Amino acid sequence: MKLFIINGPNLNLLGLREPDIYGKEDYSALCSFIESSCREAGLEYKIFQSNHEGELVDIIQSAYNNADGIVINPAAYTHTSIAILDALKAVNLPAVEVHLSDISSREDFRQISYPGMACIKTVKGMGFEGYRQAILFLKSYLE
Ligand code: DQA
Repeated sequence: MKLFIINGPNLNLLGLREPDIYGKEDYSALCSFIESSCREAGLEYKIFQSNHEGELVDIIQSAYNNADGIVINPAAYTHTSIAILDALKAVNLPAVEVHLSDISSREDFRQISYPGMACIKTVKGMGFEGYRQAILFLKSYLE
C-alpha cells in the first residue's frame, strides 16, 4: 500500500513562517515525522512539496496508478483551487486533507476548502500529529 503525501505553498518555510500558528519545527522535521509515521504503519510513501498550483495538479495526476491514497495539505490553495479539487476528483483515489492549524477558527477566507470537497476526511489543528492521523485513517480505510 503506497501513499502520496503532498504539501502545498509555503510549507517549505515551516519554522520560519508564523511560528505561533504553524510551530517552530521546520519542513525537514515534518518530513521525518511523516516518514516515521508511514514506516510504523508499514506503508510505502512518497513526499512532495510545491509552491506551484499546476505542479500540485501534475503530482496528483501522477498518483493515478502509482499510489493507493493521498494525504494533502494544499496550504493556501485550499481556499482558491478548483484545479486541485478537479485533479483529486479525476484520479478518484481516497484522499485526506490535513491542516496544521485549525482553519475553522481562523479568518473568513479560510472557511472554504475546495480540495476538501473531494476528500473523505479532514484533519485540522493538530500540528504534525494531523499527518499521522491522516495516514492511519487511510491505512484502515484501504484495508
Ligand atoms: C494551512 C492553512 C492554510 O489556510 C494556510 O494558507 C497554509 C497552511 C495549515 O496547514 O494550517 O498555508 O494549510
